[in-house]
Amino acid sequence: MQEVKKLEIINLCKEYDGEDFVIKNISFDVFDGEFLSILGSSGCGKTTVLRMLIGVLNPTSGKILKDGKDITEVHPSKRGMGIVFQNYALFENMTVFMNVAYALKIHKIPNYKEQTDDILRRLGLEELRDKKPAELSGGQQQRVAIARTMALKPDIILFDEPLSALDVSTRLLLRNEIKALQKESGITMIYVTHDQEEAFAMSDRIMVMKEGEIQQIASPEELVEKPANEFVKEFVIDNLQMKIDALAKYRRNS
Ligand SMILES: Nc1ncnc2c1ncn2[C@@H]1O[C@H](COP(=O)(O)OP(=O)(O)O)[C@@H](O)[C@H]1O
Ligand SMILES: [Mg+2]
Repeated sequence: MQEVKKLEIINLCKEYDGEDFVIKNISFDVFDGEFLSILGSSGCGKTTVLRMLIGVLNPTSGKILKDGKDITEVHPSKRGMGIVFQNYALFENMTVFMNVAYALKIHKIPNYKEQTDDILRRLGLEELRDKKPAELSGGQQQRVAIARTMALKPDIILFDEPLSALDVSTRLLLRNEIKALQKESGITMIYVTHDQEEAFAMSDRIMVMKEGEIQQIASPEELVEKPANEFVKEFVIDNLQMKIDALAKYRRNS
């Protein structure tokens, strides 16, 4: 991992309409080419953080720097970031090819057809290019969603629990594909999950969150060896062992 700062998140806070703060003054760096997971249980603020990074939600206070420049007020389309959600949100009436080509066409990219075919090939989707989303499996639809995000050549991709709606075998397959894509492309990835085992299998570093606060940011090894507090020990390490056991059982039976 190169230790060049791609993103610097500084004292970020979010409150929704005068309610309690859901993000309580968090600061962290994301390194260039890094795979960083944000791990925490439902409601701890993971999606809120991603939405502020991509720019569809204004922070109540704090700053976001990308490549050293303040992008806190920059429009989402000008941030060079893409996002992949749990529900694929594909255009149902368009083919796989058009789903991926659409944004390129709108941005009047001259070689958009070649560029689209190139991305489809990289994600093993070329044989599906003329199909509609309804004809695809969940895993295939999520590959199309990833291809569509890659089309605009973002230098950071955010993932919001992209695999949680898929069955176990597809989940295992796709996480390897996402990881391989990250290695091959060098794109910085921030990956939100509530699954300890997934975070450990994929990440360079894991940021553990609880109730809008960072508990620890560390490599998987470091988390296991030196959990920062009792919460990390219980929520991360104890659950990790349980998930590893369940997965081993699944692998034996399939
Ligand atoms: N639009 C909203 N208005 C008010 N509260 C919200 C809104 N969106 C999310 N929240 C609250 O913010 C907290 C964090 O939510 P979220 O970021 O979606 O968590 P996570 O993605 O970790 O499950 C939750 O308590 C949630 O109820
Ligand atoms: Mg969420």
